[in-house]
Amino acid sequence: MDLGLKGKRVIVTASTKGIGFGVARVFAEEGARVVVTSRSKENVDLAVKRLKEISGSEVLGIEADLRVRSDVEKLVREVLNTFGGVDILVYNTGPPKLGTFMELSFEDWEEAVRLLLLNAVWLTKLVVPGMIERRWGRLIYITSSTLRQIIPTIVLSNTVRLSIAGLVKSLAHELGGMGITANGIMQGHIKTERTMRIAEDLASRNKITVDEALKNLAKDIPVGRLGLPEEIGYLAAFLASDKASYINGAMILIDGGYVKAVL
Ligand SMILES: NC(=O)c1ccc[n+]([C@@H]2O[C@H](COP(=O)([O-])OP(=O)(O)OC[C@H]3O[C@@H](n4cnc5c(N)ncnc54)[C@H](OP(=O)(O)O)[C@@H]3O)[C@@H](O)[C@H]2O)c1
Repeated sequence: MDLGLKGKRVIVTASTKGIGFGVARVFAEEGARVVVTSRSKENVDLAVKRLKEISGSEVLGIEADLRVRSDVEKLVREVLNTFGGVDILVYNTGPPKLGTFMELSFEDWEEAVRLLLLNAVWLTKLVVPGMIERRWGRLIYITSSTLRQIIPTIVLSNTVRLSIAGLVKSLAHELGGMGITANGIMQGHIKTERTMRIAEDLASRNKITVDEALKNLAKDIPVGRLGLPEEIGYLAAFLASDKASYINGAMILIDGGYVKAVL
């Protein structure tokens, strides 16, 4: 199936590693012109080099901290200067601080709101006018399965990310008539560097090997394994294609069957 993404201009934020990199990779392999971002110039340069080698597509790297509004504004300015527009936005973020309710400070909450909500809103606000002019656009927000099933030690994710579902529905309603769709992805356990750090931490606390810790994580997942970053990319690429133009305002779970809730 040709997804028709060749030449489309795509921003994938927080994309030098993990899920973001997997998504950027799939878009680049589909021939899209891809923008990758993260806080570190070194990581950005490395990701650009790898993606160009893998795909041969045009890849632009921009350093931007998603907790900082002026970085988000700079990111869009640079993309508009180089690519002249943005057709697809995939808003992924770095992980919010881990912690239970009693462990988190006011500053932790403020930072999480900037990272997970405010700059998603602001970036959207900056790219949507061009999409309206062209009567075509795709807004995709990568969140977490915590919207359906909490993880007790990541209260910031359990709470703040839920607002993205409201944003998605509101955008879908307001922009759907202009050729623009908005959808969200709620992924379960995906094998990334972050997950490997969590497994190492579990291994040392429970005096087991990292392999055993990974197996324990996979035990509750009916398909018996963690997901791969590229698998989030395949879903994002489909949502970004014209084949998915009737999917609008949806929050889609991709978790190997992990969440037990029916709806
Ligand atoms: N992996 C999972 O199983 C899973 C499950 C559910 C939800 N999630 C969520 O999905 C997102 C991605 O997770 P992941 O596992 O792919 O994480 P990861 O492997 O740690 O990768 C995070 C990426 O985000 C960048 N980044 C971190 N903080 C940033 C910031 N403030 N501004 C801009 N870029 C930033 C990192 O690059 P730099 O360090 O260079 O900035 C890196 O490229 C996170 O929000 C995570 O909480 C993950």
